[in-house]
Amino acid sequence: MSKNDIDIDRFDARLAAAYGRDQDKQQQYDEWAASYDADLVDDLDYVAWRAAGDIFAGLVEDRSLRVLDVACGTGLAGEYLRSLGYQNLDGADFSREMLALAEKRKVYDRLWQHDFTTAMDLEEPYDCLLCVGLFAFAVPRITDLHHVVNCVAPGGLCVITVNGAAWRQLSLEAEVYRVAQLHEFEIEQIVEAEYIRQQGIDSRVLVIRR
Ligand SMILES: C[S@@+](CC[C@H](N)C(=O)[O-])C[C@H]1O[C@@H](n2cnc3c(N)ncnc32)[C@H](O)[C@@H]1O
Repeated sequence: MSKNDIDIDRFDARLAAAYGRDQDKQQQYDEWAASYDADLVDDLDYVAWRAAGDIFAGLVEDRSLRVLDVACGTGLAGEYLRSLGYQNLDGADFSREMLALAEKRKVYDRLWQHDFTTAMDLEEPYDCLLCVGLFAFAVPRITDLHHVVNCVAPGGLCVITVNGAAWRQLSLEAEVYRVAQLHEFEIEQIVEAEYIRQQGIDSRVLVIRR
């Protein structure tokens, strides 16, 4: 993919900066952490964590299962899942500043620092996971999807958002099925959901069975 293939300049500058960047993203999120909730939730009406959380809750009845919030950021999705009754919740993200804010919400039992462009080698894989906001235009690529899916045990359920603008511009649907076949997991559903309302960006929520 080249920068010519994507049109991100029509988005708010804070989003375009994140979508257009492949390098130093960890530092970028470290620097964004303090104003992230105000920028995205308050200014831009970012609702992806609630929309995907509702899809997750509709599929995972047992509130005692071990759940991983992948790319937990400041903990918006984790706090929402906790409010819906999930009791065993951990989070993972590569930004230390994001993780520090997530910890303050006191909804996670454990927080991992991990970069999902690489495998996360877990002694005890999770029962299921929610991943909101990780897959968009830049790294990680959709070809890194298996690094997320492999965090659950075989048979476990994953609910993973993909930015809808990236989904269309990068024609990700065929790629998602190719990655699923390669790494032997099943796409059970692809659900359209809200994402960043003020920017008119929707999402595709992948429901995956490992
Ligand atoms: C758009 S935010 C979403 C955060 C949170 N899930 C939410 O809905 O508010 C993307 C998050 O992914 C993290 N992230 C980006 N690339 C990552 C990578 N390669 N590995 C781990 N975390 C990453 C960022 O630090 C950031 O917290």
